[in-house]
Amino acid sequence: MKKIYLFGNWKMNHGPKIAKYFTSMLGQILSENSSLTQETVFCLFPTALSVAAALEGLSEIPALKGKVFFGVQNVNDHLSGAFTGENSAEMAKELGCDYVILGHSERRHIFGETSEFVGIKVSLCLSLQLVPVLCVGETLTEREKGQTLVVIDEQLQKGLAGVKSPEQVIIAYEPVWAIGTGRAATSSDAEAVCRHIKEAVGEKTPVLYGGSVKISNAAELFSQPSIDGGLIGGASLKVDEYIGILKAFRSSENLPR
Ligand code: PGA
Repeated sequence: MKKIYLFGNWKMNHGPKIAKYFTSMLGQILSENSSLTQETVFCLFPTALSVAAALEGLSEIPALKGKVFFGVQNVNDHLSGAFTGENSAEMAKELGCDYVILGHSERRHIFGETSEFVGIKVSLCLSLQLVPVLCVGETLTEREKGQTLVVIDEQLQKGLAGVKSPEQVIIAYEPVWAIGTGRAATSSDAEAVCRHIKEAVGEKTPVLYGGSVKISNAAELFSQPSIDGGLIGGASLKVDEYIGILKAFRSSENLPR
């Protein structure tokens, strides 16, 4: 059975009420089907405003402690101070988060985050034992110009500039053109880039694929040798789909090839 990271990026969706409802449903499903928790690392990334409620939804099921994790979608590069509207890595940790998404393409493209800036935050989070999920990926124009690997290498080098042990980080390969478009990378294209990332960073670093992961393509994508799971956006918003992605992969594992 392959170890799978099932990471759900909710982006700016699900307020506290829905977040709590979602995790209590998830808790119920996982308690009734304990085989689903084998070799799977679950992590949800609600908006910072919904993390506490999401944690509360699971608090009545102590058996799931250490099986379902939480994270934030971004943090500031300072731990505290006069940064109105920002969230601190230290406070995310205090709240109960273990992971943080950094360098998501929406942060890079909408909010102008550079790879150097993302790298500073990667080091800061590691110093607090908050595991960075460093997102890398090329735009459609870059892909069409044949620059995919050059872009990925630049994002990796700068994003990991201060990192001594890359196995402490998770990399998510998310081609920008596949995010939220319904058009995922083919499994062979995704595998080729994830292989390149493992060769650059180290075999022990988990590499996830993200970009239109759904029930119908999960088995094909997750069975690739260099893909350790998914960073799932839209399809992680409904608990049935989120778990359906895992079930689709697990049932394909048992099929003869
Ligand atoms: P998507 O988003 O699954 O909706 O394409 C993935 C992501 O942005 O992390």
